Amino acid sequence: MLEIKNLHASIDGKEILKGINLNIEKGKVYAIMGPNGSGKSTLASVLAGNEIFSVSEGEIKLDGKDLLKLKPEERAAEGVFLAFQYPVEIPGVSINNFMKAAINEQRKYHGLEPIPAPDFLKLIKEKKELVELDKKLDGRSVNQGFSGGEKKKLEVFQMAVLNPKVAVLDETDSGLDIDALRIVANGVNKLKSSENSFIIITHYQRLLDYITPDVVHVLYNGRIIKTGDKNLALELEKTGYDELKKQADELYNK
Ligand SMILES: Nc1ncnc2c1ncn2[C@@H]1O[C@H](COP(=O)(O)OP(=O)(O)O)[C@@H](O)[C@H]1O
Ligand SMILES: [Mg+2]
Repeated sequence: MLEIKNLHASIDGKEILKGINLNIEKGKVYAIMGPNGSGKSTLASVLAGNEIFSVSEGEIKLDGKDLLKLKPEERAAEGVFLAFQYPVEIPGVSINNFMKAAINEQRKYHGLEPIPAPDFLKLIKEKKELVELDKKLDGRSVNQGFSGGEKKKLEVFQMAVLNPKVAVLDETDSGLDIDALRIVANGVNKLKSSENSFIIITHYQRLLDYITPDVVHVLYNGRIIKTGDKNLALELEKTGYDELKKQADELYNK
């Protein structure tokens, strides 16, 4: 569904991604692990279309469509969802209005009329129940004064409403507590289907105690240096990244 081929990306003339190849299939959950500074968040940003990174080589295709030609909001409308590591607060904008605007922007992209009010209300009611979004958050401005856990819940709710083909969750270094991890994990486990896929970016394997990945990739120094199944994550938790890093450094003559 999502094909990444020989992706090179840089910032300020410094190459961060050095030839990433990934084949993301429908119905699967992928974990991308790796030491700090490997390029994990960069990969997420480049997928979402963050223009601070420049792509010098390679391709990203979603169901055959060239994502590199699309703006961030167009990629979102095509079904790429990026959960932000640091969610923004939007004072004065209620959750419902924010979601309505997001839905309608995507509908417009696909040549559809704005969502009829009854359909919208039904949809958000259903999804609020699914992700157990607290009633007390109704009417509040987006993320304003939210606890870490509430922000995560809102993010999972957004994901549920927008129903992306590929959701990228960058959880690295975000200092999530166990409750927040469970919220994210429950959300992913409820929302995953045979039609979508998830890319879970995580430094530690903690989150993977709650979400079982089908495939685990290790990213280091801008390259995928190892691929395995869920056992690879468990192994890394015991051994750390040092041995893999050494092998990769030798291979690429660093
Ligand atoms: N906005 C930026 N400006 C300059 N360098 C950056 C920026 N973002 C990331 N980098 C650099 O890119 C490399 C990879 O960073 P990042 O993708 O955040 O790694 P990870 O998420 O794996 O910890 C690091 O060397 C980091 O310093
Ligand atoms: Mg990161």
